[in-house]
Amino acid sequence: MKIHFIHCNKELRDLLCTVLEVRFGIPHNKLQISDSETGEEARGVLVLNPDIDLIISGHSREMMEQVKKISADYPQIPILVLLNQSVHQEFSQQKVMNITMLGMDDAGTSFANYIETSLANGTLQTSEKQEDGSFCRIRTLMLVRMSPLKTDIFIRLSENKFIKLMREGDFFDGADLERYYQVKKVEHLYIKKDEVDELISKLGSDIQLTLKIKPFDNALARSRAAASQEVVRELIDKVGFSRMVQDLAKDSVRLTVASFGAKPDIYSALMRLKEMKSEYIGFHSILLAELACCVATLAQWSSPATFQKLALAAFFHDVAIKDNEIAALWTPAELNDAASRLGPGAARELKFHPIQGSELVKQLKEIPPDVDIIVVQHHERPDGSGYPRGLTHTYIGPLSAVFIVAHDMLSYMLAWQMDAKSFNILSFLETYKDEYCRGHFKMLAKALEKYPRQA
Ligand SMILES: [Fe+2]
Ligand SMILES: [Fe+2]
Repeated sequence: MKIHFIHCNKELRDLLCTVLEVRFGIPHNKLQISDSETGEEARGVLVLNPDIDLIISGHSREMMEQVKKISADYPQIPILVLLNQSVHQEFSQQKVMNITMLGMDDAGTSFANYIETSLANGTLQTSEKQEDGSFCRIRTLMLVRMSPLKTDIFIRLSENKFIKLMREGDFFDGADLERYYQVKKVEHLYIKKDEVDELISKLGSDIQLTLKIKPFDNALARSRAAASQEVVRELIDKVGFSRMVQDLAKDSVRLTVASFGAKPDIYSALMRLKEMKSEYIGFHSILLAELACCVATLAQWSSPATFQKLALAAFFHDVAIKDNEIAALWTPAELNDAASRLGPGAARELKFHPIQGSELVKQLKEIPPDVDIIVVQHHERPDGSGYPRGLTHTYIGPLSAVFIVAHDMLSYMLAWQMDAKSFNILSFLETYKDEYCRGHFKMLAKALEKYPRQA
């Protein structure tokens, strides 16, 4: 049973979990508990975990506004709002959609009664939902990059039926890709969950080997870094952000930085736009790391620590987006145009991915500060028109500004379908001149102006 608490203290959480265990026989290890401090944070969590069984929220007037929004977005999830005695009388008669107000005068008993009623009328279930069972999916396209295969590969025939398709050590080549991906339209194949650690350590050692190859193979480094970005995204979604997954992410970032070296160049970065095909997020992230380091260099911020921060931010900035098509949208306006095709979940996924990505970054051990800030601010705009917070330029950090300018540059190139030869940095700056006239953005625009044109 998955429960998400919002703004509830630990004593209260423990009490409610004890009620579930003692009164309803749900052992502690069967409860998946998560929590958020604010409603906004909770909405970010729900984007990635929409299968939560019950939301329990503390009460305040501001919180109620957020709870109502959550209720509208997730009408299928029962929401319990815990009221203290002083407001109980005022609110106790209100029942809005899936929200139930519960007085906390005798918290344990009230909660037990609520659970009993909800189980009886079927709004709450204690059984675990059927997931992919003991399998973890992996994108079919990725397998070419992981060939020879690091583990056995399975194909899914029905909800619970998987058969082995290829063995560890087999080669998954272009012909296999055509057969399964292009002809049979199989988007995902599967590996056993208990072999995930093995897969991660093999990908990690591939990265270590690539770092040692002499002479260094930049194209191979980019390709392996993009592949592991895709794998990390799937693993976070399916098996969580374990220490091994975190280490793979950090190794991949090291490889990314090595792939462009100490003197990244805008035009050579842009030459690689054509490498961005269907693994959009992976390649987009690697390319963005390079472009962000180019912009930082022009602003005289080219220390290894800065490169590492920007590359880490690039790796994680879109990691919370599951769908490559959603990641290719850059603004809420673009999303509106695509909304009917992508469904209602897409708007939430797009809006909250900066918060979700920054929450993941905060879990990383031993990384420099500010990376989470760059991730959470990467869709903000200097004039305050961005998201998720609508910050203006005075609240956007200097490295976030570097990252946003690099992101804009990539967007500009893609929108105009340019290649590096036709890219003109002055035309790019002209397009964004109304926004880049303030604070750090103004300084960056001046630095970019001086960048030599392509010969
Ligand atoms: Fe993004
Ligand atoms: Fe992005």
